[in-house]
Amino acid sequence: MPAITFVHANGNSDRIDASDGESAMQAPTHYGLDGILAECGGDAMCATCHVYLDDAWLAWLQAVGDDEDALLESTAAERRPNSRLSCQVRITPALDGLVLRLPERQV
Ligand code: FES
Repeated sequence: MPAITFVHANGNSDRIDASDGESAMQAPTHYGLDGILAECGGDAMCATCHVYLDDAWLAWLQAVGDDEDALLESTAAERRPNSRLSCQVRITPALDGLVLRLPERQV
């Protein structure tokens, strides 16, 4: 199982085991982690699953799609070059060790 680390805005972190094929939004919500609201349930309609990727991982992920790109313009916290919607990041074994940073707010 790929392990993903979520770093909260206060610097605390949680490492969880994700399943191959689930999204980086589903994995933490299964564990009850705070910091990702995912109000639309992963349908790319709410932007409340915003995360920042550590730069080292950007090249390992699929490109931002047009819908995700448009929705990233409406995140509550500032959009950065490494912003992604976690519901659009599909976990694969190659992402073992992925680090995602949570913004200060989702709404
Ligand atoms: S869960 Fe709504 S956009 Fe990701």
